[in-house]
Amino acid sequence: MPGIVIVGAQWGDEGKGKITDLLAERADAVVRFQGGNNAGHTIVRGTREWKFHLVPSGILYPGKRCIIGNGVVVDPKVLIDELVSLRASGVDTSGLKVSANCHLIMPYHLLLDHAGETRLGTLQIGTTRRGIGPCYADKAARLGIRVQDMLDEKILRKKIAAALEPKRLALRPYARDPALDLHAMVEQYVTYGHQLEPQIADCARLVWDALEADRVVLFEGAQGAMLDIDHGTYPFVTSSNPIAGAACVGAGVGPRDIDEIWGVCKAYATRVGAGPFPTELDDELGEEIRRVGHEYGTTTGRARRIGWLDLVALRYASRLNTLSALAITKLDVLSGFERILVCTRYRGEDEAIFDHFPYHQSVLHHAVGEYVELEGWSEDIGECRAESDLPQAARDYLAFIADSIGVPVAMIGVGPAREQTIWTAAGAETLVAQAAA
Ligand code: IMP
Repeated sequence: MPGIVIVGAQWGDEGKGKITDLLAERADAVVRFQGGNNAGHTIVRGTREWKFHLVPSGILYPGKRCIIGNGVVVDPKVLIDELVSLRASGVDTSGLKVSANCHLIMPYHLLLDHAGETRLGTLQIGTTRRGIGPCYADKAARLGIRVQDMLDEKILRKKIAAALEPKRLALRPYARDPALDLHAMVEQYVTYGHQLEPQIADCARLVWDALEADRVVLFEGAQGAMLDIDHGTYPFVTSSNPIAGAACVGAGVGPRDIDEIWGVCKAYATRVGAGPFPTELDDELGEEIRRVGHEYGTTTGRARRIGWLDLVALRYASRLNTLSALAITKLDVLSGFERILVCTRYRGEDEAIFDHFPYHQSVLHHAVGEYVELEGWSEDIGECRAESDLPQAARDYLAFIADSIGVPVAMIGVGPAREQTIWTAAGAETLVAQAAA
């Protein structure tokens, strides 16, 4: 112990990469537990910006134990490319391990993702088209190919042949696609297996060993609670559970291994892809926040949809995750706005009021935010390093959020650089803060 989970408390893209990277300095291991290369996290070190899709955010610390847990779906080509580019930049990647039980994204998963979205037409989810959903579907159908299968050509061939068969019908328009050739696929994945072999491990055991040796283990979530396949805005969600409970399943630990749960939340809201977004600002103000906050997807480059902070959704995310601390990112983006709106409840059809996140999709699709208006601040806050350096209005905004959610703000992001971060008094009390850096 201790095990510390970091999750997105909104629709993904909350800036988890930076927070995980900062906390990773005090941790012995960083473990990803769900999602795949649909995620994208950006870490700024000095003048260099790093973008990762699969490797855990702790990778920039030499030799740090970075684990891709069994719950992650792995596109081996993406993983190999990330490792090659990290090594070419002089980063020591020897600490990276990938679970032998991770499911592999196969060429037909990419084609199925693409075909599925095209078929849905105007109803499409807006997936990242990285094959994530079809890969998790095969896992549940017991037709998945796992990392360990790449190490045994005979088994690999049999499993791919069995998995490919039902895909042929669905993928008729792609029948002649070379990506669907069984022999080429087996050869390719055997080669990936050779390349990744030094990294493949029994990762649950590595995590148990670290916890039993009293080391700090960070469990790094991808996406966010509102994209959770069970609790999010289904069907406009991802195909895994990006909430704290899933850290146990996706890394192979028990609930009693988790001691602290950090929720990362932007000072406003964004979402990529389709689906309900009750506080959306589909106007010039939203455009301005998008411009100042550089709100374009790390993985797909898509312009993110922008909205005011939604406390109904955040309270829901907090309860789902049992958050113990909040990290509020990108507070600096709100500098210069005369007034800041915060959604405290929803108004549905027939003027019905919702204080809680509505479970019924039809209600949610028609819900619009009801807002409290707070005073903005004009100062540039990029140089603030303590809560007391922040303008009073910014402090009031943070206090309003913490009071509404009932979770203390532990950390505040005031710019993209590592040092543009404030540890609050509540943050100093957290287990991870107390672990020696
Ligand atoms: P998928 O995960 O590619 O299947 O996409 C399903 C939905 O989740 C789409 O709305 C995506 O835009 C969204 N999504 C997936 N990964 C991320 C992420 O890392 N950040 C934000 N949205 C994501």
